Order: sequence, then structure tokens, then C-alpha cells
Amino acid sequence: MSSPDTSNNSSATTTNQSWGGRFSEPTDAFVAAFTASIDFDKRLYQQDIRGSIAHATMLNRVGVLTDAEKSAIIDGLEAIREDIGRGNIEWSVALEDIHMNVEARLIERIGNVGKKLHTGRSRNDQIATDIRLYVRDEIDVINAELTRLRQGLVELAYQEADTIMPGFTHLQAAQPVTFGHHLLAWQEMVARDQERLADCRKRVNVLPLGAAALAGTTYPIDRHLVAELLEFERPTENSLDSVSDRDFAIEFTAFASLLGMHLSRMSEELVLWASSQFDFVELPDRFCTGSSIMPQKKNPDVPELVRGKTGRVYGHLMSLLTLMKSQPLAYNKDNQEDKEPLFDTIDTVKGCLRAFADMVPAIEAKRDNMFEAARRGYSTATDLADYLVCKGVAFRDAHEIVGKSVAYGIEQQRDLSELRLDELQQFSDVIEQDVFDVLSLEGSVAARNHIGGTAPDQVRAAVQRARDALKTLQSAHRTETSA
Ligand code: ARG
Repeated sequence: MSSPDTSNNSSATTTNQSWGGRFSEPTDAFVAAFTASIDFDKRLYQQDIRGSIAHATMLNRVGVLTDAEKSAIIDGLEAIREDIGRGNIEWSVALEDIHMNVEARLIERIGNVGKKLHTGRSRNDQIATDIRLYVRDEIDVINAELTRLRQGLVELAYQEADTIMPGFTHLQAAQPVTFGHHLLAWQEMVARDQERLADCRKRVNVLPLGAAALAGTTYPIDRHLVAELLEFERPTENSLDSVSDRDFAIEFTAFASLLGMHLSRMSEELVLWASSQFDFVELPDRFCTGSSIMPQKKNPDVPELVRGKTGRVYGHLMSLLTLMKSQPLAYNKDNQEDKEPLFDTIDTVKGCLRAFADMVPAIEAKRDNMFEAARRGYSTATDLADYLVCKGVAFRDAHEIVGKSVAYGIEQQRDLSELRLDELQQFSDVIEQDVFDVLSLEGSVAARNHIGGTAPDQVRAAVQRARDALKTLQSAHRTETSA
């Protein structure tokens, strides 16, 4: 995070021409640097200019600007946008923020007519508009990445629909599941994140411009027109709320926190599975790094870093909530502090998603190791209990019988499926040859054959439903972006 340069205590001074009129002395140089936001809000330049072009277009439509004035302003703004894009601009801290930097440039470029652009608006409604435009743009990028990650998970799940691994509770082997089923569990988490993001977008997508400083403006503005030009759903309802509301930023960061939590959980599993203790997956070399001292190491840095980055996103959520908690209506300078946490959240989420969406299709399942771990873990014990229940034994008694069988297996160092029929019959005489159908790992997973169950056929059916859902999402996205 940037902080002003406080090393120079000599109070050199600057005057701000945008609001210097009522001041009898120039701003202290430290204060100018302390209060400026240009170092970080310059990243809003495209949105700021887009908003200004819409505002000027509207001012012309309602008769506040002549055609010539409007054209001069818009041409000037477009030229400035190109200049900035080419890196051809020197940002001025004395001009505080992106709004005044652009405006000063405009006046420099087109002369006094540039001074008319700020008619009927304030930086308060301007910044609220800029951030909403920015967050909306980034939501669309993040949404596409979420789709890509889900597709990767779904296709890998299809590939691994028959792969058997231990399912865990308490990190102890519990019951066999298919790896495809596990991957689809991850996919469900990300699907909920994507839903939350779409919901957040609805509340981002309203236009605050027109609220002016806080009370609205005396000019005959047309907020519906501006909303349409900027592709917002509608203008906001209340001018005081418009300039002070940052709920959307908090909601976005809450979405990011949940997504971060999910990615962190997946990361944790990948880190475990990539270890030689589990040895369930091989992560591609290009997503790992080595150790400078231990030549044998291949470290799962990418999932580790994603897990670690979750912390800063949670931190930003707490920052934003705290930032807003005691603010009286309407705009307060506190709000300037919304940007760095929000921007860092966006950058972090995009980085983590890109890493995951790139990495997931390249995860290689070590099927034999997974199978072997499921076999070692007595993970079909519940199946034996269910088998006994089918033969008329009460579940509690069945539990007891199986417990004894497992203890015997442990002593013999053999899995339940490796015990002979006569050995199993020591514990219950209802056990017959057909018990081996349920004691096999394949039989165990295949038997959980209902919607939401781990059977390979159910995994394939779930994959098909997920593919359909993703297809619908993508065609909705296409119509949205081409509209
Ligand atoms: N840089 C300011 C912010 O980020 C813009 C709005 C400033 N408004 C004001 N009245 N000082 O919030």
C-alpha cells in the first residue's frame, strides 16, 4: 500500500486550483501528499473518462452544453484516454485524485470549455460511479475465470469418474468415494461462488451519478439517459445513499473471501495429496518449485500461495466493514480508503483463479495409490454393516459385529475383502459368499447410486448436468456482452 512521503518535514506548499477559492493559504505539502489518492485511483482512468463522456453527452441532450462544447469535451477526453494508455501522462499529487488530474488535463488541452464538464456533478458521485464501473468490469472478467475453473473440474471429474480413493472424515479414511465425486464437490463450491458473484453484480450495477455532492443538483439532468449510456440497470433512488454506499464493495469482498476459503481448502488437499505420505496426485512441474538446499524437493508452491493469500482477502473484508461502520451520511473522506483493499482483493482473486484454472486440468491422479489407500483403510466397513442389516440384523448389532471383524483384520494385517468366508462367519452366521460383492471397493461405490451419491454412473450424470449448466451460463454471458 502506498503512503505519502513523510521524509521531508519542510512544509513546502501547493495550491489546488479546483477548490482553492475560499482558502487563505495553500495546502501544506505533507497534507497534500497525505490526502491524495492519485497513486492508487489512477487505475480508474478508463471508467472515469467513460463516466465523463456520458455526463457530457447528457448535459448536451438537456441543453446545458452546446453541440460544439460537447464535441470539444468528448474529443479532449478521448485524446487524454489515449495519452494515458500510452503512458504519456505525469500524474500530479497536487491534483489529488484521478478526477482532478483528468479535468486539469482537459482544460489544458481544450481551454476554458473544459471547465464546463463538472457542471451538475461532484467528485462524490463521480467516484461512486467510477468504482461501480470498475468493479462491474472486473466481475465480468472474474466470472469468466470461474467458468473456466468449473469446466476444468467437471472435465477432470469425467475422466476420473471410476477412480476410487478413500473419502475422509476427521482426515481418517472413512468410506471409498470416486475421485470424480470429490472433484465435483469442489465444483459445487465454485458454482455457489459464481452465483454469489452474479447476485453481487446486480447491486453493483446501479448509477449513482446525479446525486452530485449529496443532495442532487439544480440542473435539469437526465439520470435515466446516463444510466443507459453507461449500461447501468437504473439510477439509484436516493442521493444521500448514492454517495455514501459502499455495500457493493463489501459484498464483493465477502464473495472473494468465500471463494478464497474454498480455493484454500482445495489447496490444502492438493498439498496433502502431493506429499509422499499420500502420493495421490502429481502436480505438473510448471506449477511447482524446487528447494535451494534439498535437491529432492518438488514443492507445491502454487496451492500453498493460494492458501496463504486467503488471509489478505479476509483482512480486506474486515478493513472495509470497519471503514464503513461509524460513518454518518453522506460522503466522508474515509471512503477514499475503500480503494486499496478493494483493488488488492480483485488482483488477488484474479491471480488465484488464474493459477487454479490453469492448474486443475493438469492434475494427474495416481490411481493405484488412491485405490491402495482406500483398501488399506477398512473403508468398506459400513458396507458390511449395511449387508448385515439387509440380512435382518439390527444396525447396532451389525456395528458391533463389524467392529470385531475390523479388529481381527487389523490383527491379521488384511483388509475385510481379504478375509476368508469362514473367518468372517466367526462374527456372524448370516454372512454368505455374496458378502464379497459389497466388500469390494468397486461394489461399495457402485452401490451409492442415487442423485448426489458417489457411484461412477452418478458422477457421469452429475458431470452432464454441470456441463449443461455451464453451457447455459456461457450463452447468457454471450448475450449480455453482445447486447
Ligand atoms: N478521491 C476521493 C475518494 O476516493 C474522491 C472524492 C473526493 N470528494 C471530496 N469531497 N473530497 O473518495
